[in-house]
Formats: sequence, C-alpha cells, structure tokens
Amino acid sequence: MTLEFALTRSERPASDEARAAVLAAPGFGKHFTDHMVSIDWTVDGGWHDARVEPYGPLAIDPASAVLHYGQEIFEGMKAYRRADGSVWTFRPDQNAKRMQRSAARLALPQIPEELFLEAVRRLVEVDEAWVPEGGEDSLYLRPFMIANEVFLGVRAAQTVRFMVIASPAGPYFTGGVQPVSIWLSREYNRAGRGGTGAAKCGGNYAASLLPTQIAVANGCAQVLFLNEGGTDLEELGGMNVVLVKADGTLVTPDSESILDGVTRNSLLQLAEDDGHRVERRPVTLAEWREGVADGSITEAFACGTAAVLTPIAALKSTEETIGDPDAPAGPVALALRKRLTDLQYGRAEDPHGWMVQLTGAR
Ligand code: COI
Repeated sequence: MTLEFALTRSERPASDEARAAVLAAPGFGKHFTDHMVSIDWTVDGGWHDARVEPYGPLAIDPASAVLHYGQEIFEGMKAYRRADGSVWTFRPDQNAKRMQRSAARLALPQIPEELFLEAVRRLVEVDEAWVPEGGEDSLYLRPFMIANEVFLGVRAAQTVRFMVIASPAGPYFTGGVQPVSIWLSREYNRAGRGGTGAAKCGGNYAASLLPTQIAVANGCAQVLFLNEGGTDLEELGGMNVVLVKADGTLVTPDSESILDGVTRNSLLQLAEDDGHRVERRPVTLAEWREGVADGSITEAFACGTAAVLTPIAALKSTEETIGDPDAPAGPVALALRKRLTDLQYGRAEDPHGWMVQLTGAR
C-alpha cells in the first residue's frame, strides 16, 4: 500500500554555498535538509495526507500525547553516494519491519513497508543535493512516529503522525574510527523483562542519558548496560556490542531486551560469509573479563547505523578496567568495517542484494 505524495517545495532552500559549508563538515545530527515528509494517521481514516513539505518546526498542541507519555518510535538509516553520483540506501526493508515491531510494542499503527520506503525515497529525491560525496559521509535518515492526539488520558493515541527528516552526517564519534572506552553501568539498567528494550522508542534513549553522562564524566564515549541480574551484557546507550575471540569467533548478546540491530546483523552475516563463527547467546561480564585476561578475547566493538563500527579499547567501571584504553583498533573489527562500508558505497560486491537505489547516476 502506498499513497500519492503532495510536494510543496521550500521557498527558502539553503543556498549552494550554505549547503556546501554544511557538507564540508557535517558532524552528526546538527544540520537538516530543506524538506521533510509527513503522513497522518487516524483510527477512522488510516494513513492519509502524505506530503513532502519545507523542513520546519511543527505546530504541536501542548496536550499532544507524545509530549506527556512518550508514545514515540524512530528508525535510523543512511543514504550513500557512489562514485558515479547515484544514491543508495541499505536494507530499508529491515528498518521498515523493525518500525512495525516497535509500533506494535508502543501501541502505534503499522506503517506498510512500501509506504515507509516511498517516504524515504521521496525525501532523498527532493533533497538529493544534500547527500555528501566521498569519504564516509552520508545522509542520515530519521523516520519517526509520534502520538499527536490532543488528549491527556493514558491510552493509545487515535491520531498519529509519521515523519522522515534527513541530516548530512560525518562520524558519530568525533574521533572517527579511533577505539573508544566504554563505561559499565552498575547502577542503572536500560530495559527489563517484558519492557520496551527491543523497541526503538525514544524512552529507551531517554533512560540512557543519565548513565551516559556518568560515562562521559569518567572519560568514556558510551555506557554499557547489563541485564537485570547484573551478570550479562545487553547493549550500549545507542548501539550493540560484539566480542571477537582469538579463534575468530564473534560473540554477541542474545536477549529479548536489546535492539535487533540492522548493522549488527549485517556485520555478523558478512563475518559468516568470510568464514567466521558467529554466536548469539547470553554473554557474561565474567566471560569478557576472563577472556581478556587469558587472551581468548582479542577485540570488542560497538555497532549501529550512526556509529557504523567503532572499536572498543576498554570497558571501565568503578571496580576495574577490562582491556587497554590505549589499544589500537583490532584487525577483525577494521576488516569488517571496511567490508561493510565498501559494500554500502558500491566499492565492493553486494552478495545479499542489500543495497536499494534511490536516485540515478549523474
Ligand atoms: C542509529 O544508530 O542510527 C541510532 O538510531 C542510534 C543513535 C545513537 C543515533
């Protein structure tokens, strides 16, 4: 199912000079393109009024449910420019399906996969000039859905809006591919059994902000959460975690309360293609500690759409430091990162047919 999209072009798009200045040093999540997509939903009317319109502030009623009860979900995707000028995105069906799972958990409506993809495609078409060239920059795409019914009763909203905005993006961490240290949160959990941990909802990220502040105060880039029992690894504030063993096996936590990362799944698939063993299972903190001590765990990395793959040099806490904060990036992490980014930028073959073309070559 898809809809007709109405297009209203911005009367004040950024000048070529202003856009070039942004694209020269985009940072992450600070600059936005000239347009945005909105699609409304009501219980009675379903999805309607699909439109591409000038980017700008929303007029939102102060009693809108999202402002009070946080009924919101989002996705993170990227558009990549190839050497021939064409623009592609990566596994958008996976993001569409995950948004459906998140919507189900947050009692939001299901957006059909084709409509989700069409919304992304329309925005990239109209703001194509904002897709950076070269390097590892990309156009970060942020589809999201909010409950905007004007009602303070606590129940699923009957009026919802789906939107897509886009932001030229450089590296998520300012150091680029430099290994980072991670802070182990002992006091705070991210999610619990039966909670929203597997959904991509704003509340999960809100809950990670205080622990992330503590991580940063301790010289770390991100926080790592454990399970409710405080024994097993879950995920970082905004990305998944993978350990690499000396025999080449990749190990990642399997838990109902972590986000099913598209980047993680893809990296693990590419690793399997290259002959690595992959284990998805509960992973204890003790296993990490002992594995680093006896040399059987040689690398760790964080992965997500925004951060791609960032090596983890050390895990710090008030009690201990696992690993060496000054360790260089490991060879397995670097090779996998290159394999994935080469595929995304069209520099290497795409054996699984993951890339979807959005605009043509120049
Ligand atoms: C992403 O990786 O795209 C996310 O949504 C997480 C956030 C750290 C930006």
